[in-house]
Amino acid sequence: MKFFIDTAEIDEIKEWADSGFLDGVTTNPSLIKKSGRDMLEVIAEICSVVDSPVSAEVAALEHEMMLKEAMVLKNIAPNVVVKLPTTLDGLKTCRKLADIGVKTNLTLCFSANQALLAAKAGATYISPFIGRLDDINLDGMNLIRDIRNIYSGYQFSTQILAASIRQVNHVSDAALAGADVATIPASTLSKLVQHPLTDKGLEGFVKDWQATGQSIL
Ligand code: E4P
Repeated sequence: MKFFIDTAEIDEIKEWADSGFLDGVTTNPSLIKKSGRDMLEVIAEICSVVDSPVSAEVAALEHEMMLKEAMVLKNIAPNVVVKLPTTLDGLKTCRKLADIGVKTNLTLCFSANQALLAAKAGATYISPFIGRLDDINLDGMNLIRDIRNIYSGYQFSTQILAASIRQVNHVSDAALAGADVATIPASTLSKLVQHPLTDKGLEGFVKDWQATGQSIL
């Protein structure tokens, strides 16, 4: 499973880029607003830090404008993935971009039908929003499972990008459900490795090792 970081904060990206398990970055208009920076500048800076896919979202709602914005975004760097809403206009734009070899990430996906349409439109990634479904008492993980079944059944190559991840269990559950990628906020990424038994066990080993009086170096 690939790990993307869900942020527009350069410092967070730099920190995790060195970890060896970061496979890409996703941003959205809310994350750009939170960063307080110019979107085109932020995306260019992110692309100067990582070579992996960086999702940058269009702002337009209508196809022709989306296409124009997509061209601006894709010209920032070769690793830019154009993020489009899973609407009719977004899907139409997706098809056009796929036909000229531009990678796309279809965002705000909340149903298996939307995912099916995205795959038919040639999307590189589909982003089902797990947390937002859980927020309204629906099962985000079931959606990942349904999409996996559909994509595998029809051999679609669109990758399932589990988004709106709010807790560590979402990551392992999405992996079990067959997601290809999870985009994870930095705060959740840092919690993935944590386990109280690891800390407790290490404490014991350190104490016992010191008691041996030995040294490896
Ligand atoms: C994904 O690409 C989105 O940026 C993100 O996962 C949205 O998460 P949220 O529902 O926590 O805003």
